Amino acid sequence: MQTLSDQSQLASALVALRAGGKRIALVPTMGALHAGHLSLVQEAKRQADHVVATIFINPLQFGQGEDLERYPRREKEDSAALKQAGCDLLWIPTPEQIYPAGFSTTVSVKDLGKHWEGEARPGHFDGVATVVTKLLNTVRPDVALFGEKDFQQLAVIRRLAVDLNLGVEILGVPTVRDCDGLALSSRNAFLSQDERARAVALPKVLRETAEAIADGKPVDPALTAARRVLNDAGFAPIDYVALVDAETLEPLRTAAGRMRLIAAAKIGSTRLIDNLAVEVRQ
Ligand code: PAF
Repeated sequence: MQTLSDQSQLASALVALRAGGKRIALVPTMGALHAGHLSLVQEAKRQADHVVATIFINPLQFGQGEDLERYPRREKEDSAALKQAGCDLLWIPTPEQIYPAGFSTTVSVKDLGKHWEGEARPGHFDGVATVVTKLLNTVRPDVALFGEKDFQQLAVIRRLAVDLNLGVEILGVPTVRDCDGLALSSRNAFLSQDERARAVALPKVLRETAEAIADGKPVDPALTAARRVLNDAGFAPIDYVALVDAETLEPLRTAAGRMRLIAAAKIGSTRLIDNLAVEVRQ
């Protein structure tokens, strides 16, 4: 695996990878990699001839008082894990390459970024959309892969790729979970032993609530009960537990069509998010 920072070296390396019409898959990350990221690389290998990964902790997507400073940085381990997973090229851009002096362009996806994470973390999706556009424009992959754990982020990225004619296929990859159900996240490293034990209430209540709604339980009482369970487990504040349309991410008060149950809440000082598909039984 080649590891590059310099953008002109990256450009030459990409020309070499593309030679003979080979397909390139891109896996953008902020590092602190876990099995969820490596499953993106595995799927990328199925989708394309060559896999390019990026590690860039994007300051633009962190709000004031968020965890930019304490976000885990493990470049050496990440690089070894990507090499082992079969990644061909790792690009680690410098902040100056992504945001050169005078940088003043923002990519903003209006409706899809409005609710949920958009409300809880103002400016977050502008930061994500801007950096992802830059990464896609630089690497010009045939396909780019993102985890379904950040379900709203995935929807925002799909939208921008269509709206800006980026000519890239955006592929969502299912969430990877620990054996007790907790979704893998770089932020799980911040949980104390006690918080980690209690955090399992999040995937559990999502599963139970998704099943209750699938079985015909009215949506509002099901969501209220889910919030109570999370409160009892020590989650506070709960930013949202909502049933949404899987395409538009608009809230649903009755079950219909393709749906997603989404939630975000803090346990201690760590904010966790998760989501599940809901399918109404016939
Ligand atoms: O999901 C992430 O790790 C980040 O939001 C992404 C897509 C790499 C953009 O910085």
